[in-house]
Amino acid sequence: MHIDGSSALVTGGASGLGLATARRIIARGGHVIVADISEEVGAKAVAALGDAARFVHADVTDESSMATALDAAQRLRPLRTVVHCAGRGGDRTRILAKDRSPGDLATFAEVVQTNLIGAYNVLRLAASRIAGNDTLNEGDRGTIVLTASVAAFDGQIGQTSYTASKAGVHGMTLVAARDLASWQIRVNTIAPGIMDTPMLGRLRTDIRDGLASSVPHPKRLGAPDDFARLAVEMIENPYLNGQTVRLDGAIRMAPR
Ligand SMILES: NC(=O)c1ccc[n+]([C@@H]2O[C@H](COP(=O)([O-])OP(=O)(O)OC[C@H]3O[C@@H](n4cnc5c(N)ncnc54)[C@H](O)[C@@H]3O)[C@@H](O)[C@H]2O)c1
Repeated sequence: MHIDGSSALVTGGASGLGLATARRIIARGGHVIVADISEEVGAKAVAALGDAARFVHADVTDESSMATALDAAQRLRPLRTVVHCAGRGGDRTRILAKDRSPGDLATFAEVVQTNLIGAYNVLRLAASRIAGNDTLNEGDRGTIVLTASVAAFDGQIGQTSYTASKAGVHGMTLVAARDLASWQIRVNTIAPGIMDTPMLGRLRTDIRDGLASSVPHPKRLGAPDDFARLAVEMIENPYLNGQTVRLDGAIRMAPR
């Protein structure tokens, strides 16, 4: 699907993978609404993206703020693309603590609420808008890219909440592609490995170096632009549908 002349909603676009994707979409001639809860960072990021970008303060788990973001995207240009990057890390809670007490249910639910319920909320609301488009020459009305994680497949110790939420996103992908096939909307998911974003930036340099050297090839952390390039391919390639693609330099996470 051609990006040029259309608009895209990028959730979590104030930072990291979403911001890099917004940049690539704009370079392809698209217009972007960056939807994020981080107002100050988002406003600065959008100013640097130039005239083709606008910021909307929106929480992906909230129906009315997502409706506002989708309205804004539809005002810019026909809304054909959503790249859903908004998400949070896990609670690093083991199922049992050392004293045998059970893991906290409330933090588990919070992670699932943001990462999985948020993804479904964006998917359903965006699909409803995109389904109203005409089909373009390659047959798409539009396309949606979701973000999982390699933790969906190789969850580490203490990652039950994050892994459950991201495995849910992976699991939804094929169903969504099948559900939305009759509306000519494609849905794909990227499962990143260890990416060099502000989420990771807070780590000590020696820990970051250790993580980078654990990647088989290339021996580095993933760049946000590696993600953005794959997101653009998922948007543009008409035969790519219902797929989760690992973007991880062949890393397989160890138990801890
Ligand atoms: N960085 C990595 O190594 C890595 C690896 C695998 C998966 N991921 C996933 O990639 C996605 C993007 O992560 P990133 O590394 O770019 O992180 P990031 O922290 O740089 O960006 C995430 C953005 O999402 C926003 N956000 C969080 N909750 C939100 C909500 N409820 N509504 C709207 N916006 C919200 C944040 O404000 C932030 O701007 C996340 O879903 C994350 O789980 C990241």
